[in-house]
Amino acid sequence: MYITTPIYYVNDSPHIGHAYTTVVGDALARYHRLAGHDTWYLTGTDEHGLKVARAATQAGVTPQELVDTVSTQYRDVWDLLDISNDDFIRTTEARHRTGVQAFLEALNASGDVYLDRYEGLYCVSCEDYYKEEDLLEGGLCPIHKRAVEQYSEENYFFRLSAYGDALLAHIEANPDFVYPRTRRNEVVGFIKQGLEDFSISRSALDWGIPIPWDDRQVTYVWVEALMNYVTAIGYGHDDAAFDSRWPAVHLVGKDILRFHAVIWPAMLMAAGLEPPRQIAAHGWLLVGGAKMSKTALNQIAPAELVETFGVDGYRYHFLRDVSFGPDGNFSWEGMVDRYNADLANDLGNLANRVFSMVGRYRSGSVPAVQGSTESDERLRAAAAGALEALGGLARYDFPESLLGVWRLFGAANAYVEDNAPWALAKNPDDAGRLDEVLNALLEALRVGAILISPVMPAIAHRLWEQLGLPGRADTAPYTETAAFDVFPAQTVPGGDPLFPRIDT
Ligand code: ME8
Ligand code: MG
Repeated sequence: MYITTPIYYVNDSPHIGHAYTTVVGDALARYHRLAGHDTWYLTGTDEHGLKVARAATQAGVTPQELVDTVSTQYRDVWDLLDISNDDFIRTTEARHRTGVQAFLEALNASGDVYLDRYEGLYCVSCEDYYKEEDLLEGGLCPIHKRAVEQYSEENYFFRLSAYGDALLAHIEANPDFVYPRTRRNEVVGFIKQGLEDFSISRSALDWGIPIPWDDRQVTYVWVEALMNYVTAIGYGHDDAAFDSRWPAVHLVGKDILRFHAVIWPAMLMAAGLEPPRQIAAHGWLLVGGAKMSKTALNQIAPAELVETFGVDGYRYHFLRDVSFGPDGNFSWEGMVDRYNADLANDLGNLANRVFSMVGRYRSGSVPAVQGSTESDERLRAAAAGALEALGGLARYDFPESLLGVWRLFGAANAYVEDNAPWALAKNPDDAGRLDEVLNALLEALRVGAILISPVMPAIAHRLWEQLGLPGRADTAPYTETAAFDVFPAQTVPGGDPLFPRIDT
């Protein structure tokens, strides 16, 4: 599994929209590692182009200074959010430049690159070309609602028009190539309208990667940005590494679907490479019903939420409450409710109760015995159901999958009520049953720690430590390690509450 996020523009600081894609990718990558799959997770920053060059001028710094500063902000926020990326690519790195130039040579060798005059309209915020009829009234870009610019220059073009049939055939043969279905239909409709060739170079800009056979032109920023997905894994400098990783699953927002599902696969075909494995596009995360933007001043930085909810509370909320595909709305109240209900109550209280009973009734150590009442069977069935539900992560069913995992905690809480350990503790004749009950509850927490680890890695490790278990919660394959068994007889240290309640 080779999983990528978009490489983010460094004209803007990271906000919860960027973090949504990156947290989704991280949960997916951690899921696949936990399943025992060979996994590689890539993110990075998109540092060339006119938009970044202008942002630097505005900030009164050189482009290099700007990209160094903002790229570091991205790295820092991914550290804060426990993102387990295996690599971080910057398009200003030498390995990227080498790979891009090799890719351009391959494109050129296909015969589908030619020199022509470009006349048209360009939105610098999108770094994208527009046709007159696609603009809003007054000639404004439909996404940024800002004036587009008139361009006229000699550029190299890529013959995208020649790839429509091949793209349609690929999409037809690979039903999940573009996910979800609505996005796939959108892409098919777009291709069927007929594809136009597009400019892949710029002459009026120097903040970019030179075209290898004509150094008066730099590569169009989108063209070289897409190539990060292959240059980062060795294209043009380490063929063996490249062959072992490619093709990728690209996670993107719906705003950049066309670049990934049409232009990029066509470029790969022209260069003689396999298309991506999949392009999975999610909707926009809205704040108060509106898209976040610099101009609307409604951007939320992840750190502002992590302060209150912790890293794991942050990750859990966006995966549990935002469906992958449609637009989703962020609300503070919704986040507090979710945290208190699922984390502080269902999981946090369960752990607290179990650790305190194990301490009080058994001085921190429970014999390795297993019960076989109906109540025990129900708990075991819930654990098996939770294990099964975790697989939903690989199909982007994040809310459904987590709901399924949480049924285990619900079942464990019900098991406590059914078996009333406090009553068993009063009667020496029930000592054996009390051992079984406490053992089953510790085992439910052990299984739970493994199953939450792709989404809440730090809490999973803490819970594992509080259980006093050796090794790690995220040991693969979870289909074996998370099978409900007997909890080992050993000391259970317990510890501080995992999720202190948030008062409203
Ligand atoms: O487009 N809701 O970079 P970018 C959900 N450099 N996701 C959001 C979001 C929101 N409100 N805002 C941003 C670029 N995103 C190019 C990509 S890739 C070869 C080049 C996420 O900084 C989402 O994944 O504008 C979206 O597609 C991406 O950030 C755009 O990031
Ligand atoms: Mg953008």
